Amino acid sequence: MAVSQAVPITRHPFADGSYKKMLIDGKWVDAASGKRFETLNPATGEMLATVAEGDAEDINRAVAAARRAFEGPWSKAKPFERQNLLLKLAELVEKNFEELSQLDTLDMGAPISRTRGNRLRVLGMLRYYAGQATSLHGETIENSLPGEIFSYTLKEPVGVVGAIIPWNGPLAATVWKIGPAIATGCTVVLKPAEEAPLTSLRLAELAMEAGIPPGVVNVVPGFGETAGAALAAHPDVDKVAFTGSHITGQSIVRASAGNLKRVSLELGGKSPDIVFADADLDAAVPGASMAVFANSGQICSAGTRLFVEEKIYDEFVGRVAEFGRKLQVGNGLDPNTQIGPLVSEQQLERVTGYLAIGQTEGAKALAGGARVTEGPLAKGYFVQPTVFANVQDNMRIAQEEIFGPVISAIKFKDMDELIRRANATTFGLGSGVWTRDVAKAHHVSKALRAGSVWVNCYQAMDPAVPFGGYKMSGYGRESGKQHLEEYLNIKAVWIKTA
Ligand code: NAI
Ligand code: MG
Repeated sequence: MAVSQAVPITRHPFADGSYKKMLIDGKWVDAASGKRFETLNPATGEMLATVAEGDAEDINRAVAAARRAFEGPWSKAKPFERQNLLLKLAELVEKNFEELSQLDTLDMGAPISRTRGNRLRVLGMLRYYAGQATSLHGETIENSLPGEIFSYTLKEPVGVVGAIIPWNGPLAATVWKIGPAIATGCTVVLKPAEEAPLTSLRLAELAMEAGIPPGVVNVVPGFGETAGAALAAHPDVDKVAFTGSHITGQSIVRASAGNLKRVSLELGGKSPDIVFADADLDAAVPGASMAVFANSGQICSAGTRLFVEEKIYDEFVGRVAEFGRKLQVGNGLDPNTQIGPLVSEQQLERVTGYLAIGQTEGAKALAGGARVTEGPLAKGYFVQPTVFANVQDNMRIAQEEIFGPVISAIKFKDMDELIRRANATTFGLGSGVWTRDVAKAHHVSKALRAGSVWVNCYQAMDPAVPFGGYKMSGYGRESGKQHLEEYLNIKAVWIKTA
């Protein structure tokens, strides 16, 4: 493991130690309770800002504002106006992109190369949703009733959306929730993660600057058990769009029962990434490594169960371990950093807990295996990129989501056995296949029970291509036309004309 140089903290205009309020009805306000919480830089442990700590009362205020906005002039906003607002927001995000990238890096630790690299995706999403705003339509449908009766459908916004997001990519996650809401004419109350609330607040400032009307986008930072739970249970919220752990996803589904609100869930995974002996190994080594190590493994679709064909297992896993050892770990602000810290002390404990479990279960750490405790990184939440070999299917490190830079390398021999084992998980989000054989690529892509299959690549994403889970990775899709449908109701209209 190489260590990046320590980087002096530059003063960021939005992470300068000051106090940030929440956005309700177009106004920046304190929490009703007056409470505040701190948000830290996980690379250094330094405090970046204090933030208004919303709870049930603030959620009530924000939902009321979102309801008023939904029923007010916003309900009359033409598709073209919603499109223009999104394009204006895209322009402002583009203008301020460097500042937003640094803010994500400071608040959750990701390397600046990664947060800068999100540029096309984030701007692409805003512009894609802008395009969709003028492409929504119902249908005229022939019916077989006697007489003359005309039937057609209208697509209408579902209403007030509660958006609850995690900390692993705050800028993209915020855009992924508010983009479709604005495109369809919904209003939103967004609760960012307590670990990294700053970018959502900054984006809300830009939304106001773009001219998005008061109450259409509200941002209430706070904790999951208070603000998040209140939003999920709120009787006047029409839909919850959630991204996070499956445990919290289950509690959101239970909370939704009160008013049977619509729910979409983007949850975790334990994705298989499969390397056949006939693969281009020079591409598969970095590809399969970064399928896990990117963002320090804090990606829902990370390819953490690395299935390698027996005849190349030792060689391939050895090369992945070597790749992991050479990665530069450090403060995300250093442009040379490839692996940043984990987001919080809690995640550090969780991940180091799994490192210990892997060792007790009998897996062998060929690379990494520990927290970084020496030098300038000792103050942050850094874990060495880790490759476990000799992993068996029933080990906890092969079954449970670790959400850290940890690869569990598993051996396989024949195709049928492989597919059964790759699918033997409660999750079904991502999956990868590395092979030069087209027939094999098609066969395995069809057989895997997962929402995305990446062949000879990993983690490709596009605003127009749907993303989401099978099984306990959740339901509903983000990106693509399906995403807009999650925010729309269908009304059937019958008109008797004779
Ligand atoms: P989490 O699911 O608890 O948090 C995600 C969001 O949900 C945050 O905004 C949080 O405040 C909110 N939340 C928490 N409890 C809630 C409740 N009862 N009602 C409503 N909202 C609630 O995830 P956490 O604790 O940050 O991470 C734990 C594990 O979850 C990770 O180690 C990882 O395995 C998984 N995870 C998966 C993510 C994904 O992208 N699929 C993202 C974050 C975490
Ligand atoms: Mg939590």
